[in-house]
Amino acid sequence: MKYKKRFFLPPAESFDWVKKEGVTEPPIWCSVDLRDGNQALVIPMSLEEKIEFFDMLVKIGFKEIEIGFPAASETEFSFCRTLIDKNLIPDDVTVQVLTQARDHIIRRTFEAIDGMKNVIVHLYNSTSVAQREQVFRKSREEITAIAVDGAKLALEEKQKFEKPGVNIRFEYSPESFTGTEPEFALEVCNAVIDVINPTPDNKLIINLPVTVEESMPHIYACQVEYMSKNLKNREAVTVSLHPHNDRGTGVADSELGLLAGAERIEGTLFGNGERTGNVDIVTLAMNMYSQGVTTGLDFSNLPELAEKYCRLTRMNINERQPYSGALVFAAFSGSHQDAIAKGMKYREENPDSFWNVPYLSVDPHDIGREYDADVIRINSQSGRGGVGYILSTNFGYNIPTEMRDTVGKLMKDWSDKGHRELRADEVLRIFNNTFVNKKTYFDITEVHYVQMDGKKAKVKLKKSDNFDLIDGKLAEIVVSAGMNTPRGKTIIMREAVGNGRLDAVSQAVKDALKIDYTLTAYTEHALTKGSSSLAAAYVCIERGGVQYWGVGVLPDIIDASVAALVSAVNNSLSE
Ligand code: KIV
Ligand code: ZN
Repeated sequence: MKYKKRFFLPPAESFDWVKKEGVTEPPIWCSVDLRDGNQALVIPMSLEEKIEFFDMLVKIGFKEIEIGFPAASETEFSFCRTLIDKNLIPDDVTVQVLTQARDHIIRRTFEAIDGMKNVIVHLYNSTSVAQREQVFRKSREEITAIAVDGAKLALEEKQKFEKPGVNIRFEYSPESFTGTEPEFALEVCNAVIDVINPTPDNKLIINLPVTVEESMPHIYACQVEYMSKNLKNREAVTVSLHPHNDRGTGVADSELGLLAGAERIEGTLFGNGERTGNVDIVTLAMNMYSQGVTTGLDFSNLPELAEKYCRLTRMNINERQPYSGALVFAAFSGSHQDAIAKGMKYREENPDSFWNVPYLSVDPHDIGREYDADVIRINSQSGRGGVGYILSTNFGYNIPTEMRDTVGKLMKDWSDKGHRELRADEVLRIFNNTFVNKKTYFDITEVHYVQMDGKKAKVKLKKSDNFDLIDGKLAEIVVSAGMNTPRGKTIIMREAVGNGRLDAVSQAVKDALKIDYTLTAYTEHALTKGSSSLAAAYVCIERGGVQYWGVGVLPDIIDASVAALVSAVNNSLSE
């Protein structure tokens, strides 16, 4: 057997985190995009790109930002200096710099931050069994000494560099914490606490990295709770988490770790970072937001942030990435679309209710997404609800319930044939071409109504030259390109009586075309989108046992209803 469990349970059982329902307070957020994120890029960011990224992080609301490992390279060093020398760090933002617990690296790091107002010097060394045995070949005592000596030197340097108006704080990470025996990690951290001697006014951050995910999240929660409860001088310590995502549970590690007593999170936007990435702060923060926690981070324009992130890092965001992926709100399925459309209507009617729309964990508008473009999407899985929603919200067509099946099936077939999704404008085009103001075989060019007991209509019909009916059946359609048609347009005049205007026109049409059908449905409304002076009318006829729909869209409602009838009859003649 090649594998066995590589994690260590704490010596004392402690499960307080299990009893908590959820996170109720936001943690202190620290972005490590410009360090852990940047060091994992195929092409690391340039100085200008880093500055643009830094500005974006500030705008989102991060108050702690790890900007790099200044002693590691000239680029990192000069980015740090540029932020200071060009005065690019707002007073309420603390910059964090990473350093290994090695003398020359600590000294160089302090040179890099000289003049910075608020800074966290982040000291680390590896403490895991694997690193101790294979990489450093050092005992526990020797590993502890690295941390302690590093902390001592860092403290000395702080005394040299700190001056009025400069606030230098410390963070210590037992790197590879999850591969370290918890009691040993505690020993090292407590030794560092003894050296730094933090106070509640100037706390030491003890960061517990999931450098590599080695266990299920509940194990990490137990480890964090053990540390949180047993660290010395706890009121002067901030417990911080730094989960990576090797098992795909970085978010769960963070959430359970917060329940277990942590107060701070280090992560990146969209989960960039070494290997499978650091924990995605967008997901984490939005998960809290969706439970009613005010996070202090502004993701109200997430698509814009995502676009900038992709441009600057040259990374992509997966379509299914929670909250930020292109498809994460999309409903293609008919029943989902129907439920969402009804949920949205319910919200319109109950604007003060808590968010509980089916299939949508948060309101897409809250993160800058659009219902039309992002939520209701039409493909061969879609149903009448979604199509109705698109036609209604985008174009103002309130298509009658009885017509929805026909329209839904029409769009489904189009999408199926093309093997692709239909955009909203394509849905409209297909709807228009199929139903609206159709004059394929005939049109009514004039109608004169006379008010009687019933309504009388004198109708002037114009049949197009590809129209010829024998006994109500289309006998010949002349459409060949370039051929002259044998007949010209035929004008027919008819008078008829009906129990309403539309009925009278319908009688005249039947008589003129020598066909029979039953008018089965009629509705109308003003078109609220686009030109508000238009009316839309919907007519259904039944001919030969089949239903045919037509829609009329014209400024006058009577004209629109006649156009709807003409469309429906023309559709029946196409069969
Ligand atoms: O993942 C990790 O352990 C780190 C440390 C340097 C905190 O990035
Ligand atoms: Zn890391």
